[in-house]
Amino acid sequence: MKEIKAIIQPGVVSKVIDALKAIPDMPGVTVSEIKGFGRARANVPHSIVEWGVAMVVKAKLETVVTDEMVRQVVEAIQKNAYTGNIGDGKIFVYDVNEVIKIRTGESGPVAI
Ligand SMILES: Nc1ncnc2c1ncn2[C@@H]1O[C@H](COP(=O)(O)OP(=O)(O)OP(=O)(O)O)[C@@H](O)[C@H]1O
Ligand SMILES: [Mg+2]
Repeated sequence: MKEIKAIIQPGVVSKVIDALKAIPDMPGVTVSEIKGFGRARANVPHSIVEWGVAMVVKAKLETVVTDEMVRQVVEAIQKNAYTGNIGDGKIFVYDVNEVIKIRTGESGPVAI
């Protein structure tokens, strides 16, 4: 089991989510508004300042999937999040030790 975390431009969220929803076995996605900075240190016109820190608003998508699905999900995100501009974001992939489905008590890949 892997977690895929993608930090993407807010303007591509609906396109990326549509692509993820089109993957039949996609179990679910958590979507958050986040702020941060990359190599440009938020030195761009649309930056904001919070806690005295210059940041750029981005979206974070998190999804836990089976190992077999990782490539398909990463490709869907990468293809649909690409604009070619700086700040397009990144995709991180992590190992997941355990998943427990609260309603059924199932655990492991079937609980995803
Ligand atoms: N290594 C990292 N660890 C954690 N968060 C990151 C990392 N790199 C980028 N981010 C987050 O992703 C957002 C977008 O990053 P961004 O695409 O600007 O990265 P970059 O390395 O500066 O690439 P680019 O040169 O294309 O702008 C940042 O605002 C920050 O929130
Ligand atoms: Mg950047």
